[in-house]
Amino acid sequence: MNSNTQPALNQPMQTNDPVNIDQYLEQLHADFDPVYNMLMDYQCAVMEVETRFNILNNRLSIQGEHNPIESIKSRVKSLDSIIRKLDKLHLPIEIESVEGNIKDIAGVRVVCSFADDIYRIEENFLAQEDITLIERKDYIKNPKPSGYRSLHLIIKIPIYTENGKKDMFVEVQMRTIAMDFWASLEHKLRYKKNLNPQTIEELAKELEACAEESAKLDEKMLRIRERIAADMQ
Ligand code: GTP
Ligand code: MG
Repeated sequence: MNSNTQPALNQPMQTNDPVNIDQYLEQLHADFDPVYNMLMDYQCAVMEVETRFNILNNRLSIQGEHNPIESIKSRVKSLDSIIRKLDKLHLPIEIESVEGNIKDIAGVRVVCSFADDIYRIEENFLAQEDITLIERKDYIKNPKPSGYRSLHLIIKIPIYTENGKKDMFVEVQMRTIAMDFWASLEHKLRYKKNLNPQTIEELAKELEACAEESAKLDEKMLRIRERIAADMQ
């Protein structure tokens, strides 16, 4: 490189300098490893919970005539969402603020065909000795004013890291296929900021009516399944 040439602004360091690259990597690891490790712990908790549900699904399907779980969807909250939530809660933006204050970083959504399967699976899941129930909100028995229905659990489950056992919070949402279909459509309305307020109000009312009809359909299909099961005995 010509000695008069200044480094470009988008090249903060010279990668061919072994001293600089070592310092750079050291700083990078010091900054990012704690965050990466935290997200990894939540990812492990998600995998642990998913496995518990998958095992329950297989075991319960031997006893019953169908697989109670239709699908499992999981996610770890993005770093952006975690930081926004800390800010909303007026907490310092640091790793120490996360643990104990944000309980929905790990999220597992269990979708069942029938509403009674939700409670059967919940009972078996919570009966597991190392799982602690922290919070339970039954929006199936008590739907939200929007019409939203789901069973929400916040649980604590141990994961085993290279530094030993660590209890992690996981948010579990359990719902039927119909409730899940409704929630994904309503979610779209919730985040559409550019619709005019009157349209939002009209659609919200329509969605609330849909939630009612959908709950009736869930109920009817459950009764049909029960009659089929009774006839088969
Ligand atoms: P958050 O800060 O959003 O976590 O609120 P919260 O801790 O009071 O939790 P709540 O149990 O009310 O809801 C948690 C999650 O359930 C949300 O992040 C959504 O995924 C889902 N949820 C709750 N209410 C609704 C709703 O009315 N519509 C839809 N589509 N999803 C909802
Ligand atoms: Mg929450």
